[in-house]
Amino acid sequence: MASISTLFFQLITLAFAFNIVANGQSLKVGYYQETCPDLEPLVKEIVDQVISISPTLAPPLLRMHFHDCFVRGCDGSVLLESPAKKYEKDADSYLSLRGFEIIDQAKAAAEKVCPGVVSCADILALVARDVTVAVKGPFWEVETGRRDGRVSIKSEALHKLLAPFSNISTLKKGFKKRGLSVKDLVVLSGGHTIGISHCSSFHHHLYNFTGRFDTDPSLDSKYVKKLKMKCKPRDQNSIVEMDPGSYETFDESYFRLVAKRRGLFESDVALLDDIETKAYLKFQALSHGSTFFEDFGESMVKMGRINVLTDKEGEIRSVCTKVY
Ligand code: HEM
Ligand SMILES: *[C@@H]1O[C@H](CO)[C@@H](O)[C@H](O)[C@H]1NC(C)=O
Ligand SMILES: *[C@@H]1O[C@H](CO)[C@@H](O)[C@H](O)[C@H]1NC(C)=O
Repeated sequence: MASISTLFFQLITLAFAFNIVANGQSLKVGYYQETCPDLEPLVKEIVDQVISISPTLAPPLLRMHFHDCFVRGCDGSVLLESPAKKYEKDADSYLSLRGFEIIDQAKAAAEKVCPGVVSCADILALVARDVTVAVKGPFWEVETGRRDGRVSIKSEALHKLLAPFSNISTLKKGFKKRGLSVKDLVVLSGGHTIGISHCSSFHHHLYNFTGRFDTDPSLDSKYVKKLKMKCKPRDQNSIVEMDPGSYETFDESYFRLVAKRRGLFESDVALLDDIETKAYLKFQALSHGSTFFEDFGESMVKMGRINVLTDKEGEIRSVCTKVY
């Protein structure tokens, strides 16, 4: 029989759990089961078709959901277009986001079968999952029921999105503020197993680490040599693979590389500066990513709950680039 103190402990745990998920209380798996039953297969079909032709669109479409969620919550604000170029999309760190036309295509398909029902924020979450699966990553059940926001502000994107030169305390704080744990930080950083980066994103790491035109001394020297060949000192525009050798496949190699001191961004390398993130990294590196896929799905679901609008909040846009 449960003692009073066990019961008390369980209540506290329960309260704590609810507090943490409070953001996403009204989201659920299969939210559109009645109102738009064909939505998920429809989105998947579009994504599969697109990725089979243009596999390099998978990474930016995964990244797009991250950008959406970290600035003003997962409310589709990243998709809004401003004639005066004053929205999130117009911030420097967003310029390399690509694949907006795929979101528009999925939204148009959804409008055709169930007009006025499906939010753009949910389309982003579904597409992020489907592109991950399309590049051999994990499947997870996506919670839906988000509504679209009406506000998008460039300066928020500039100041609230974590910079690639963030240190571990800034990263941990940035995740905690959004209801995400230290584990979520290291797990989701594993998203860098696919895609590319522009030299500008790690120029500082390579050429001006402490402001004295130096390189991060903790980096593997062979890796530095290769990077410097691809990115000359004033080159901001060339691109490198984030996860050399398997940048088109979602796998655990990111953790192996970072553990070998081959993290591209300071924010990747910083995961070696915390006991918990370091332990996770080494564990995945040694166990061939034994729990990474499952963990990634769980953390993506949590990320998808950040400051969502639900019920009567926000709106359902008819096109993703414009408020209704
Ligand atoms: C932890 C904080 C993070 C920082 C500081 C960060 C930073 C960056 C930067 C600077 C780029 C390169 C952009 C460019 O130069 O074109 C990038 C690319 C990317 N990021 Fe992150 N990121 C973070 C977290 C995440 C998360 C949580 C995900 C998804 C789960 C993610 C997925 C990606 C992907 C897939 C790319 C490749 C995009 C492409 O190929 O176009 N990142 N990230
Ligand atoms: C991490 O970066 C922040 C913001 O740049 C800075 O205020 C803080 O002192 C840094 N922390 C450490 C431990 O270096
Ligand atoms: C190098 O870093 C210093 C100090 O942060 C900064 O003032 C300078 O503009 C940087 N130079 C370049 C070329 O990035």
